[in-house]
Amino acid sequence: MPELLCRFPGDFRWGVAVASHQVEGDNYNNQWWAWEKDPGHIAEGHRSGSACQWWANPEPDLDRAAQLGLNALRLSLEWSRIEPRPDVWDEAALSRYLSLLRAIRARGMEPMVTLHHFTDPLWLAERGGWENPETPERFAQYVHKVVEALGSECNLWCTVNEPNVYAFFGYVQGLFPPGKQDLRAAGVVLRHLMEAHARAYRAIHAVQPLARVGLAHHMRVFDPACALSPLDRFLAWFFDRAFNRSCLEPLVHGRLIFPAGRGDASHLRGTLDWIGLNYYTRDPIALALRRAEFLLARRKYGPGAELLDGGYGEFYPLGMFRCLRRLARLGLPIYVTENGLPDADDDQRPRYLLTHLYQVWRAIQQGWPVGGYYHWTLVDNFEWAAGWTLRFGLFALDPETQIRQPRPSAQVYAAVVRSRGIPVELAVQYAPELRPATRQAQQGRRSWLGRHCRELEDPRGNP
Ligand code: FCB
Repeated sequence: MPELLCRFPGDFRWGVAVASHQVEGDNYNNQWWAWEKDPGHIAEGHRSGSACQWWANPEPDLDRAAQLGLNALRLSLEWSRIEPRPDVWDEAALSRYLSLLRAIRARGMEPMVTLHHFTDPLWLAERGGWENPETPERFAQYVHKVVEALGSECNLWCTVNEPNVYAFFGYVQGLFPPGKQDLRAAGVVLRHLMEAHARAYRAIHAVQPLARVGLAHHMRVFDPACALSPLDRFLAWFFDRAFNRSCLEPLVHGRLIFPAGRGDASHLRGTLDWIGLNYYTRDPIALALRRAEFLLARRKYGPGAELLDGGYGEFYPLGMFRCLRRLARLGLPIYVTENGLPDADDDQRPRYLLTHLYQVWRAIQQGWPVGGYYHWTLVDNFEWAAGWTLRFGLFALDPETQIRQPRPSAQVYAAVVRSRGIPVELAVQYAPELRPATRQAQQGRRSWLGRHCRELEDPRGNP
């Protein structure tokens, strides 16, 4: 066994996450397929097309996941395949998913199944999608059908992926279908997604009393770009509340807050058996009277900030710890349901992986119940509005030839998973800031002030 910098619990879930539309291919019956056809919607006119061909042939990628030593895999179901027309159920699609779940299990991985990951059947979108008050009940019917059909192979369910991202990109920024810029509609959609989650929670437990049901919540760290500016501080607080808290407040405290609405929502309370964290980056928020990205704000990175590819944000591992700290207060089991970065040449991913996992380990040391980590993602896939321009895979994919090549980070992750911790050797090679000896040596060369400042931003984040 290699010498370890830190060791994870023996029952920790090591996984990767994928979503149906991003990997299956030929999902022509959902609203994304229609959206992709219109010029200007997807970077460089890209289309999902046959994606990673998981609908036709997922096994080779499942083998790749198993060869990394993973014991968990998060995937989503395509509602438009299962219910291609209202109240019409495609039993063949359900049995296809059943065999997919069996194939995952046969390779020693426990599936976590997401029931809604951004895509809606076209017929649903044509009826107003998530603005329609009937949609939460429609969703619950679909979920009921799914759990009856697939419950023998899965009891770990994720109802909705990132309600806040769905509402914000689709109804505020207009980057996702239906491409609206209507804050009121965004609030309605968010409320209906929370409603759908609660109904799904009850529908699943009615069929499968021992099911573990949660939701994948995208959290971003909003910090004031200038800590001394009251306006930056206010804006950071506002975004945190509107983006991070608006989904949790109804589920945990039974009340709606902006933009989802106002007032009592006690019927939504208590509908989480666990909470999922999708963490990627932080946004330093500054007041912007001109060139605002949203309302009166824009992101303003500090001079030393290390940025991710494609304008994806800042390399900020401590954000993982900070988000886990907030979620730990809910007193629920936590899974990191997504974490990753776009990095085609893999020059940041190994370090990103190790430094973020280190923060997960620190969280566990605090006694916070973090039970697993699902890296986004296994193989490059169709990255929504960014098309194929952002590459998140541990394996590179050429979508034309369908040839996959492991990136160095695939081996890094495999080494961590196999040793159930971060080997010192890997830290030295890829993330020297995690190595105390390296850190001490660096600190020895610094002034007292330099040392003190570095401590504050120390990616190890130790007190
Ligand atoms: C998340 C989405 C996921 C993927 C990653 C990069 O917000 O849930 O589908 O696109 O971002």
